[in-house]
Amino acid sequence: MKNLAINNGEKSIKTSLPTFRDATGRSLGSEEIEQLTEVINSGSLSFLSGAKSKEFERDFANLYGVKLAVAVSSGTAALHTAITYLNPEPGDEIIVAPITDMGSIIPILAQLAIPVFADVDGETQNLDSAKLESYITPRTRAIVVTHIYGNPADMDAIMTIAERHNLFVIEDCAQAHLAMYKGRLCGTIGHLGCFSFQQSKHMTTGDGGMVIANDNERFGRELRQCSDKGWPRNKSGRDHLFLAPNYHMTELQAAVGIAQLRKLVDMVEARRRTAFYLTELLTSLPVRPTPILPETKGTFFFYTFRVDPGLLKVSPMEVVKAMVAEGIDCFLGYPGQVPIYGYPVIKDAKTFGTSGLPFTLRDARLQGDFSASLCPVAEKACKETVCIWWNERLDRNHVEQIARAIEKVIHAYLY
Ligand SMILES: Cc1ncc(COP(=O)(O)O)c(C=O)c1O
Repeated sequence: MKNLAINNGEKSIKTSLPTFRDATGRSLGSEEIEQLTEVINSGSLSFLSGAKSKEFERDFANLYGVKLAVAVSSGTAALHTAITYLNPEPGDEIIVAPITDMGSIIPILAQLAIPVFADVDGETQNLDSAKLESYITPRTRAIVVTHIYGNPADMDAIMTIAERHNLFVIEDCAQAHLAMYKGRLCGTIGHLGCFSFQQSKHMTTGDGGMVIANDNERFGRELRQCSDKGWPRNKSGRDHLFLAPNYHMTELQAAVGIAQLRKLVDMVEARRRTAFYLTELLTSLPVRPTPILPETKGTFFFYTFRVDPGLLKVSPMEVVKAMVAEGIDCFLGYPGQVPIYGYPVIKDAKTFGTSGLPFTLRDARLQGDFSASLCPVAEKACKETVCIWWNERLDRNHVEQIARAIEKVIHAYLY
């Protein structure tokens, strides 16, 4: 144990590895600059007069084989556009996974709907389809399915349940660009697919997002208007048909998006290749990489594995601290050491003034006390899952260094 960097031993990884936080781990270059230059020279930075957002949407829709793509300002904005489209009544329920980003929940609360947290599968950490139906009530309107870590959720079972109960399905693909489920792209299986292009994602525009769909009109409103102030732009003059925010993507983001999208297949394949290599190198260690469902293709937003606390002399948190000291960019538990309902915005209903809305709506049905163990499987996963930040610029040599550092830490702490 003395040789661990955390105990002042020599650090295993001596030079820093590529990181998504800067140019070392991102594929941004002349292609993006060329696109950006065109936008600046055009003088049109807004989608209203520019051509780049429209081009980016067309390219994204073509890649995904869908009729419509709407470019927006973030992944949260994409999900809010989706929930605005659904137009729930205040107090309607939307089922979500507790292992996800707050960006999946904010839009539900903002539309005064109630998030209902359905526990996850103990292995994949995606929604547990065997338990899903037990969360449905007469007030359930939709399911937001996060494909966590880039691993496809159990979509056949989820869609069968959704159809049986006439529920709308929104796929949260913020971590799952080009993930495949039984030959179909995640984001095209439910009714809507939502993506994020935030700095850490498989492709980035800094911040940014996309909604994809095969229909532009449902629930009495048009999808595009749900991120555009409820404004029917095809009519002359001004009109605002319903309450909706302005979530336009700028032409600058779209320019970067066009160039990034052209690299997406290669960037995703690079993430997969190196992640599989790490799995291979870790086979002799008592760690369990998060499994991926058969007939699916995960795309490794993070590289995740579980450490069985019973096998080690220290807690998973101590393992992570030692890994960080060795030079690995990692942390314990996503979205932290508690599921998403463990944060004040939900747990303490820090929402609108002191009202506690939507949880305090007169006819809202409350799932329970969010500070209690609502989803025990998710709670355990948050306390045991090691998440390593991943990116397309990691190569075999980097992965070997990561594997050696993990091995050093695990061996030091094994009983
Ligand atoms: C699963 C998931 N959903 C939604 C979001 C929200 O995306 P953004 O940060 O672009 O708003 C994220 C971003 O981290 C995410 O990982």
